[in-house]
Amino acid sequence: METNEILALVSGANRGIGLAVATGLARRGVHVLLGCRDIGRGEAACAPLQAEGLNLRPAQLDTTDEDSVSTLAASIARDYGRLDILINNAGIGLDYDPRLSVVERMQRTLAVNVIGTVRLTEAMAPLLSKSNRARVVNVSSELSSFGQRSKPDWGYAGVAMPTYQASKAALNSLTLSYARLLEDKRIKVNAICPGYTATEATNFDGSRTPEQAATIAIKFALLADDGPTGVFVKEDGELPW
Ligand SMILES: NC(=O)c1ccc[n+]([C@@H]2O[C@H](COP(=O)([O-])OP(=O)(O)OC[C@H]3O[C@@H](n4cnc5c(N)ncnc54)[C@H](OP(=O)(O)O)[C@@H]3O)[C@@H](O)[C@H]2O)c1
Repeated sequence: METNEILALVSGANRGIGLAVATGLARRGVHVLLGCRDIGRGEAACAPLQAEGLNLRPAQLDTTDEDSVSTLAASIARDYGRLDILINNAGIGLDYDPRLSVVERMQRTLAVNVIGTVRLTEAMAPLLSKSNRARVVNVSSELSSFGQRSKPDWGYAGVAMPTYQASKAALNSLTLSYARLLEDKRIKVNAICPGYTATEATNFDGSRTPEQAATIAIKFALLADDGPTGVFVKEDGELPW
């Protein structure tokens, strides 16, 4: 990697919004590590993009597995010595899974969407602090916004997904905490909402493509030095927490 090249890690990047963010960053000249639970799926996702000449590499990453996360952090430290962009995209929603009790849905969802994000952010923070323009983008959801949920005429006012919405509200809280904690290391931490997107997570029912969803994440990954930290945004502007 050239010393002036930007290095990004995207979690949950073998498909959906994560793959679109990884691809979009690579198209803008960023060197991208595709964090994938299954390295074979990561290789399959990378192959056609590498054939186009894009600078992407799969990297084994299960955010619920301490060994997976620490092994990846050690290999990034050894191979690159720093990380410039972390996209915390890996996420699940189990509210409509009839096989699980609400308690099981909550435990599994928090393990990925909240604890997994903390594990990955903590492991990568020392590498991000070696960058002089580090950015963390947390892929959240407008569905978790207390400000929006309290408006009776809001478009999603009828939605109640207790475990998913609670997990993303916790992710939003983490965004504000890490924005403060990492500020003196010049690391900007923001939360984005990609909008309702056609992916496996929505049974391909969303109105937006993964490429449209990726736009706001890419914008905040490449935020200029005078850009904000500790904000929650979607494509058409800032969201209330
Ligand atoms: N789609 C929407 O409308 C929408 C709206 C708002 C926010 N979001 C958020 O956007 C993000 C991406 O969602 P998506 O719609 O692209 O869903 P998706 O197609 O289901 O992709 C989810 C990705 O996360 C990965 N993942 C799951 N558990 C993981 C773990 N423990 N460690 C590492 N990776 C893990 C999956 O890997 P496997 O392939 O191995 O399962 C997959 O690559 C999520 O955080 C989601 O909550 C989506």
